[in-house]
Amino acid sequence: MSKKQPFDRRAFFRTAAAVAAVAGAISLPSLAFAQDAKIKIGLMLPYTGTYAQLGVAITNGFKMALEEAGGKFGGREVEYFTVDDESNPSKATDNANALVTRDKVDVLVGTVHSGVVMGMVKIARESGTPLIIPNAGAGAATGAQCAPNIFRTSFTNWQPAYPMGKVLADRGIKKAVTLTWKYGAGIEAIEGFKEGFTKAGGTVVKELFLPFPSVEFQPLLTEIASIKPDAVFVFFAGGGGVKLMKDWQAAGLKGKIGLYGSGFLTDGVLDAAGDAAEGIETTLHYGDGIETPKNKTFRLNYAKEFKLQPDVYAVQGYDAGLLLIAGLKAVKGDVSKQKEFLAAMAKAKIDSPRGAWTMSKAHNPIQDVYLRKVVGKENKVMGVAQKALADPARGCKM
Ligand code: BEZ
Repeated sequence: MSKKQPFDRRAFFRTAAAVAAVAGAISLPSLAFAQDAKIKIGLMLPYTGTYAQLGVAITNGFKMALEEAGGKFGGREVEYFTVDDESNPSKATDNANALVTRDKVDVLVGTVHSGVVMGMVKIARESGTPLIIPNAGAGAATGAQCAPNIFRTSFTNWQPAYPMGKVLADRGIKKAVTLTWKYGAGIEAIEGFKEGFTKAGGTVVKELFLPFPSVEFQPLLTEIASIKPDAVFVFFAGGGGVKLMKDWQAAGLKGKIGLYGSGFLTDGVLDAAGDAAEGIETTLHYGDGIETPKNKTFRLNYAKEFKLQPDVYAVQGYDAGLLLIAGLKAVKGDVSKQKEFLAAMAKAKIDSPRGAWTMSKAHNPIQDVYLRKVVGKENKVMGVAQKALADPARGCKM
């Protein structure tokens, strides 16, 4: 649901210009008032459905970063316009368009689901509104559809999956099955894994799918048991990931066939998954126990403020806040200086809890991907699977 905004900025400027024309001079008080106007941020994220918890963590992290910076930029406060996108691609362009044309937000921030983010990308490209993507990994957003006003603080779906291919092949694993929801994120993650695995000598013998957000895993687990692969690589997240790990254990596959994934499988869900998650290895650009002062402080502050442990989604939201702050500081809160605003974000060095990172030319993080293992209630970092990994940004002409 979106809050109504009583102050129409464009109407104000139209009236102010007319008054100035009559008076024969630009009025100083109107400029001062314009500077006092709030910076409008459109948060479009899932707050219901299987990705609801992810949307909340991103929102928490984002707001925390802005609060830590004092909440004011060039004297301007921020105002949030919040939409629950329900992870529903069919409502995505309408939702994003309402934030831009009705609420007149200065910046769009969102979302989690790859299909939904492509609706946001369309509106951002058409309207020129800056868009910061704090999760959704759709390759096209920083690939064929890349644009000067589109930035991502998370990953491409390819990015955390690709390194796991080499990790497994280097262990002598030859034959793998893949399993995912059949939508952009899952398909691209599997492609990434397959690319890394086959390049290193492995073979994907079967690709299994189910529709998003179905959790009817049973028939697929029966099929996997009959194939007897050396390993299964999956993409799932949120509640769907928890159900898969529990069903995997209940089907007697745990300890018999190795279950691996991009780290969304186990991130933010370890309490819910219980011992079904124990020992599962994944690759991701974050891990709970990264031993840096930045990560320790972030985790402490987040836990204090929200009475929750942070996860990768909270980190990506926090980094989206840090990126926006870098842009706002460069223009002293005046987002109408769009060229300088975007340039500052493009060259920002983000001092993230995951480790410092910079933007690729296509505006996607260049970042380390960690190998992690679930030990108790932690996604423990076992090492770096691939250092400073940049997405290939196929099709980006920028
Ligand atoms: C996606 O749809 O891009 C996505 C959703 C959850 C976790 C990771 C990626």
